[in-house]
Amino acid sequence: MSASVVIFFLIAAAALLPFTATSLQIQQPDCTGRRIHIRRLPPRFNADLLANCSAYPLFTDSFCPYTANHGLGLKTHNRSQSWYRTDPLLLELLFHRRMLEYPCLTPDPSVADAVFLPYYSALDALKYLYGPEVNSSFNHGLDLYRFLRSDQPLLWSRWSGHDHFLVMARPAWDFSQPLSNDPPIWGTSFLELPEFFNVTALTFESRPWPWQEQAIPYPTSFHPPNLPLLDAWAHRVRSSKRTNLALFAGGGGISASPNIRRSIRIECENQNSTNPDSDRYTKLCEVVDCSNGVCEHDPIRYMKPMLRSNFCFQPPGDTPTRRSTFDSILAGCIPVVFEDQSAKSQYSWHLPEEDFGEFSVFIPKEDVVYKGLKIMDVLMAIPSWKVKKMREKVLEIMPRTIYRSHGSSPGLRAKKDAFDIAVENTLKRIKSRLEEV
Ligand SMILES: *[C@@H]1O[C@H](CO)[C@@H](O)[C@H](O)[C@H]1NC(C)=O
Ligand SMILES: *[C@@H]1O[C@H](CO)[C@@H](O)[C@H](O)[C@H]1NC(C)=O
Ligand SMILES: *[C@@H]1O[C@H](CO)[C@@H](O)[C@H](O)[C@H]1NC(C)=O
Ligand SMILES: *[C@@H]1O[C@H](CO)[C@@H](O)[C@H](O)[C@H]1NC(C)=O
Ligand SMILES: *[C@@H]1O[C@H](CO)[C@@H](O)[C@H](O)[C@H]1NC(C)=O
Repeated sequence: MSASVVIFFLIAAAALLPFTATSLQIQQPDCTGRRIHIRRLPPRFNADLLANCSAYPLFTDSFCPYTANHGLGLKTHNRSQSWYRTDPLLLELLFHRRMLEYPCLTPDPSVADAVFLPYYSALDALKYLYGPEVNSSFNHGLDLYRFLRSDQPLLWSRWSGHDHFLVMARPAWDFSQPLSNDPPIWGTSFLELPEFFNVTALTFESRPWPWQEQAIPYPTSFHPPNLPLLDAWAHRVRSSKRTNLALFAGGGGISASPNIRRSIRIECENQNSTNPDSDRYTKLCEVVDCSNGVCEHDPIRYMKPMLRSNFCFQPPGDTPTRRSTFDSILAGCIPVVFEDQSAKSQYSWHLPEEDFGEFSVFIPKEDVVYKGLKIMDVLMAIPSWKVKKMREKVLEIMPRTIYRSHGSSPGLRAKKDAFDIAVENTLKRIKSRLEEV
């Protein structure tokens, strides 16, 4: 990693620092309908899992370094104020930390509108997904369920668990192993257990049919602590010179069988000889090779290329969604998606479905892979004024998709981030559930 790159991120931010938000008075929040009780769980459901971090693999590493700063990870650089090496898996820790500063917490469960389970479910799943308990992955969650029914049994039974919610920091697919698969093929069965059907689970990706989970954004590496740093970043994004038409930051696409990643790779590699749009762009397509997870904890690798590109490709991989969609929104790089399951039908709380075409481009993957549609032709046909308008819309939604740092300034807290929107909508969802029951 280059230090100058990080400093580059910091300069714009530092300029605005003298304006602090302390002058803003925090108003007493109206907690009607918003009270949340955090359920006390024994440490084996959270803290012990962190203490055991070295026992579990994450790429070639353990996940220990990513638990730093309450799940934000280590800073990208000692002088960095907003940038961290965040692993999405630690959202459970990050979310728990943010919940501790939620303004409408109540220690009294009888007045709570919802009950939060601070269970680090995806961390607990590692021993089933990759560890010695792979053949008993249908057990995932049963220990928790027994605890919930035996400790304060009325707290579960008053609403049969319909008022409970938790975070599961992986796609729902990883927890949807049918109970009848023996031995298991992939995943635990947490979301298939009737014991948890009533609990709302916040995941990175939901299954296409309506179920108990809701998708929320993957965390990026950007976690500003105050409003000036967020505004400075937005300014940096808006004024960045976009010399590339498009960017693909990712891996894959090297197999011979037809698929969208392969089509993207081939089209990108063939752009160097001719550039019919050299007035607007010095390069039509750039590829940042993220194979073998090299980009995973190194945001500099892809953030700078994203800042110089107008469009960022977000093809499906093992599953339809990608963290990179949120990185590109952060960089003001308009996402290009190839199926609705990649974002449109997932993040209905955070990305307004009815405006989807205003901040993203949809190109059906079948048209590209089987019908010869050229992605670059579609993008080049979009006039500059429209690109600009789309980027403004991307910037408008960007603050809703980031997870700000815990302990951030009142000025920034007044702006809803991904956490606030997730909690607000969880409360609404639980309210309507309880009205039905
Ligand atoms: C932590 O690791 C120890 C030793 O491998 C194991 O016995 C224990 O169950 C683990 N704890 C959790 C919460 O996974
Ligand atoms: C950050 O500072 C610590 C000591 O304060 C030092 O040990 C470490 O090497 C520094 N890291 C970087 C990336 O400069
Ligand atoms: C799980 O079951 C499969 C098939 O029965 C077996 O080959 C494998 O060794 C088992 N794994 C473990 C960790 O017990
Ligand atoms: C889930 O809720 C239904 C009622 O809506 C109830 O019949 C069922 O027992 C509940 N499940 C659990 C595990 O509590
Ligand atoms: C473009 O560049 C790539 C990699 O540098 C090369 O493999 C490819 O053949 C070039 N394509 C053309 C059409 O020159």
